Amino acid sequence: MKYKKITAEDIAVLEAIVGKEHVYHDEENRNHYGHDETEDLKFMPEVIVKPRTAQEISEVLKHCNKELIAATPRGAGTGLSGGALPVFGGVIIAMERFNSILIIDERNLQATVEPGVINQVFQEAVIVKGLFYPPDPASKGSCFLGGNLAENSGGPKAVKYGVTKDYVLNLEVVLPTGEIIWTGANVLKNSTGYNLTQLMIGSEGTLGIITKIVFRLIPYPTQTLLMLVPFASAERACEAVSAVFRAGITPSAMEFMERDAIDWVMKFIEVNIEVKESTKAHLLVEVDGNDAETLMRDCERISEVMYQFDCDEILFAETAAQKENLWKMRRRVAEAVRSHAVYKEEDTVVPRAELAKLLKGVKEIGNRYGFKSVCYGHAGDGNLHVNIIKENLSDEEWTNKLPLGIREIFELCVELGGTISGEHGIGWVQKGYMDIPFDEVQIKLMKGIKTLFDPNDILNPGKIFN
Ligand code: LAC
Ligand code: ZN
Repeated sequence: MKYKKITAEDIAVLEAIVGKEHVYHDEENRNHYGHDETEDLKFMPEVIVKPRTAQEISEVLKHCNKELIAATPRGAGTGLSGGALPVFGGVIIAMERFNSILIIDERNLQATVEPGVINQVFQEAVIVKGLFYPPDPASKGSCFLGGNLAENSGGPKAVKYGVTKDYVLNLEVVLPTGEIIWTGANVLKNSTGYNLTQLMIGSEGTLGIITKIVFRLIPYPTQTLLMLVPFASAERACEAVSAVFRAGITPSAMEFMERDAIDWVMKFIEVNIEVKESTKAHLLVEVDGNDAETLMRDCERISEVMYQFDCDEILFAETAAQKENLWKMRRRVAEAVRSHAVYKEEDTVVPRAELAKLLKGVKEIGNRYGFKSVCYGHAGDGNLHVNIIKENLSDEEWTNKLPLGIREIFELCVELGGTISGEHGIGWVQKGYMDIPFDEVQIKLMKGIKTLFDPNDILNPGKIFN
């Protein structure tokens, strides 16, 4: 292996940079920082540092560069593609001390924050000022904004409000070679040179470490209505999705859960909804705005469309508690599956009108390869999470045959005009499939960018590409 093992001298250097009390190499910490939420993967780091300033990160990276030590940045460790796993050991740069909301600029509807702030903490801090930061991954209660930027996270609200990239104006970044830069300007329009801000977003911590984020915000919509729509056919549910938009309505969430997703989550947490024997899937649809009557009319229109696709009786959430109950059910599907099974989670995405074809194809491929899948996700974005369950597959089938099935699923996504990850990233677990959406020319350009930023390949090595 090309990376140097950490020595006592390296640890002394790191301690001198960040302070002895912010360097850890005991077994317990190495175990903790050796995994994220991706399957059951584990790679032990040799040492963990918890810097507090961009300058400290700069010095850590300069040392890693000089000594050829692998350095892996890490937010809250909620990632689902293994982006924060230290696959070559080395140093974990844990960002949890970067946890300040620095400025909420109400006049400009902007905020400057550090990357270790939890998504929901930030959302709540701006809501009290009447402002809205929409990106809301399922893990919003624990994930860091820095990780959201690294993976360009989405979440249910993306269907109306866009994903993380749509809210980032400017970034302070420490480059792998130690320079500290700003990528853009704190403005809503910017056609000044290449867009380094957007290049950083979704680069999965391979091009630099973000140390400050300038977000744009929007006014907070004060009202929501939420409906749960059962279907006796999962494919019909998928077909209804694009019809809603064609009817002139953009819901603030349009989520899909097939029957198994609901059954698994109901085994995992207390949720009070009745699901009929005949129900094969649900759409969870939310509209938001400031005018209750408009929202009621939108819901009526949505109901009409849903009935055209043979839905069963629609449930309207009457109270805040009922809404929270339904959202809790949706948000915890991934955890429920994870707690019950050995599984792999795919993050497929197609143009939304092709969703039914994707679902049908996933099931058909599953039948041929003998795997069961639990499907759910952000139907309005054509973003289907496919949880493949090991169940009766032998270890041999799981390890050697399943990747061929996954390959077929990804090929289908691309055939349908989609791609292989909508919001979880490529990270460690999907990199073997990058030849499906990209040809050699595209991969060469991306690798060239990586080399330009990180000539010694020390920052989050082993991710995105083989
Ligand atoms: C979700 C995560 C897994 O949508 O992306 O629940
Ligand atoms: Zn999701």
